[in-house]
Amino acid sequence: MRVIEIRGKGGPEVLALAERPMPVCGEGQVLVRVAAAGVNRPDVQQRKGLYPPPPGVTDIPGLDVAGVVEAVAPDVTWPRPGDAVCALVAGGGYAEFCLVPAPQCMPIPRGFSFAQAATLPEVFFTAWNNVFWLGRLAEGETLLVQGGTSGVGMAAMQMARELRGATVIATSSSAAKRAVCLEYGAHHVVDYREADWPDQVRALAGGAGVDVILDGQGGDYTPLEMALLAPDGRLVLIASHRAPMAEISTRDIYIRRLTLTGSTLRARPAAYKGRIAQELVAQVWPLLEAGRIRTHICGTHRLEDAAAAQAVLDANAQIGKLVLTVSDLAETIP
Ligand SMILES: NC(=O)c1ccc[n+]([C@@H]2O[C@H](COP(=O)([O-])OP(=O)(O)OC[C@H]3O[C@@H](n4cnc5c(N)ncnc54)[C@H](OP(=O)(O)O)[C@@H]3O)[C@@H](O)[C@H]2O)c1
Repeated sequence: MRVIEIRGKGGPEVLALAERPMPVCGEGQVLVRVAAAGVNRPDVQQRKGLYPPPPGVTDIPGLDVAGVVEAVAPDVTWPRPGDAVCALVAGGGYAEFCLVPAPQCMPIPRGFSFAQAATLPEVFFTAWNNVFWLGRLAEGETLLVQGGTSGVGMAAMQMARELRGATVIATSSSAAKRAVCLEYGAHHVVDYREADWPDQVRALAGGAGVDVILDGQGGDYTPLEMALLAPDGRLVLIASHRAPMAEISTRDIYIRRLTLTGSTLRARPAAYKGRIAQELVAQVWPLLEAGRIRTHICGTHRLEDAAAAQAVLDANAQIGKLVLTVSDLAETIP
């Protein structure tokens, strides 16, 4: 099968088309013939050598796929060969065939093409896990999303508004991106390049402050974000692009009962991811099918052009999602 390999650490030029043997299903696994694969920020981090695959996981990049089930292990009851699915994977998406633990497979929302479905798993799993499970966002609370037009941000903003009636504040870097935030769930949006962005967020949140913050920046943002949190507020970290180290007041944690938490999903067990899949299919898939939650594709590239897709992320020029088309089925609706 054709795959994309990462040949050394570096820029998009280290991505190369290669041939690898077809993978074979092990216990509990499904082999998917990939029609389209999502491109995510963690793929870029992997290419730079900053986010290696967990032990036992393929070195082929790619964290979400949509396609048709080619084969299943004898112990798998769903999905069945021939079913159209989308799925979260810990690696291997940039390929013509991909192994997936069965619990991480989901049906494709009605009316969605394979390419659209490939944009869903990584960002919706991440937003669900961090905003609803770890962040415990409750009805009517206030959510701050750093980077509202990221794939994860757009999923988080819309789910928080639709499913929790939350007040959503987003940050973003350009006027065009800020307009998109307002179309995809944000009530308010702030330019994070302005030095007083925390004051602007504080004024918008009003009253006690923000209940939950979803942040991929870390570093010097962390004390600023802690100061924005309401009593009992939760700061959920999903990356540390600014810096992994931060100087914070531990006193704030106990005086205002703050929670500092975070996660990466990649190394979590299939059963954990399967529980998220079930909740997404039950609660979010109907909203996608009704058009109340949307996915936004800003660019589509062929598998062999994966380097061009990642270059868009390197330039921070993406809004929402980038997709790799892997087969002729990509733009069709199953
Ligand atoms: N832990 C996990 O399980 C997990 C899984 C997937 C992704 N992630 C992380 O989640 C984030 C989103 O991933 P993605 O693939 O959806 O991302 P993406 O499309 O690459 O977006 C990155 C976002 O970061 C924002 N950003 C950059 N500098 C910023 C700053 N100084 N202040 C605030 N925002 C800033 C960008 O905003 P502008 O475009 O406006 O500059 C952009 O919205 C990334 O940090 C990624 O590493 C974590």
